[in-house]
Amino acid sequence: MHDSLNRKITYLRISITDLCNLRCIYCMPKNGVKLLRHEDILTFEEIERLVSILAAAGIRKVRLTGGEPLVRRGVTGLVGKLSAVSGIEGLHMTTNGILLKGMADELKKAGLQSVNISLDTLNKEQFKRLSGGGNLADVIEGIDAAKAAGLKVRLNCVPVIGYNERDIVSLCEFAAEKGTDLRFIELMPIGEAVAYRGIDTARIMEILSEHFGEGEMLRNDGGPAVYYRFPGMNPGWNGSQGMDPGRSGLPGMDPEWNESPGMDPGRNESPGMDQRRNESPKLKMSNDCEDGTIVRIGFISPLSESFCDRCNRIRLTADGYLKLCLHHSIGVDVRTALRDGSDDECIRELITNALNNKPSSHDFTAGVSDPENRRMVQIGG
Ligand code: 5AD
Ligand code: SF4
Repeated sequence: MHDSLNRKITYLRISITDLCNLRCIYCMPKNGVKLLRHEDILTFEEIERLVSILAAAGIRKVRLTGGEPLVRRGVTGLVGKLSAVSGIEGLHMTTNGILLKGMADELKKAGLQSVNISLDTLNKEQFKRLSGGGNLADVIEGIDAAKAAGLKVRLNCVPVIGYNERDIVSLCEFAAEKGTDLRFIELMPIGEAVAYRGIDTARIMEILSEHFGEGEMLRNDGGPAVYYRFPGMNPGWNGSQGMDPGRSGLPGMDPEWNESPGMDPGRNESPGMDQRRNESPKLKMSNDCEDGTIVRIGFISPLSESFCDRCNRIRLTADGYLKLCLHHSIGVDVRTALRDGSDDECIRELITNALNNKPSSHDFTAGVSDPENRRMVQIGG
């Protein structure tokens, strides 16, 4: 499937519920959102049928979102159904992690491959305040459970001024300790978020370079994130690997790291460091990082560096509206077609025709004629 700008559409994000068990201040309105009626929400059978139709048309990757996808009863069953759909190569989920501890194993067994877990702060009190009462320990246990279950784990942080700027470095250290990638996402001015100011990628980069040394850009994996690794950020301080925790701040375990261009060798000069560096290049860290050796820090910069020209995604809301862009309301009602007896071919055509209306880009910086009224909690990011 291609849109009118010849962008190949291979990725479907499905919001399976508008309910959430948290109330993050930049996402959920204080009084909540007007909830969907039960009968307006797509059933698992309808979702499965739609995914089959779209897989036949070229969708290869599916991500389940919410609200919070894990609050929908029977979600593991849906994962099982979707993972069996022919053509679907990647099945993923974005979650706040609160309920993950008790579900990670069954999700993995049902065919889920990875979870993106939102984590904006490591301060217990701050987390409670920002998430409207959430318990940070639940999320951390969720992260551990997901890793233990064999799910690939990635952490997402939305840096917001006056909210979590002091957590940026510690979140990186945490990601390195856990051996997971971490991505910083620029706050998009949607719904509640318009009242807050995000911290842009350039500023985060400055903070990280100051603390961990100049970052080195890694190969792009095709997604919206641009990944870097930083010399001072090293899974080697992971206590569970039996290493001396005092080693934090050493360069990466990757033997090639020493040759990294753009790294100022002087910066890391410390007594005995070269020797220690040479001791450990063979140490294999247990982590999810793409190159298996060093934590990657990703930057998703919809505002400062739009990636719309390589957009490959469409979004399905819980009530069966297929959105063509995160920021525009334009899309197509597929629920009606799913319920009025239309055959698969007819539904596929409805969608492929609608793709011609996919906007060329979001328009966060200028005003848009077709602004989205849905809240982030209803779209699923
Ligand atoms: N801008 C960017 N990211 C957002 N999220 C929620 N609202 C916004 C916003 N306005 C993020 C959450 C979570 C994911 C689902 O989307 O923090 O990581
Ligand atoms: Fe927070 Fe995500 Fe729930 Fe929004 S949907 S309130 S960001 S946990």
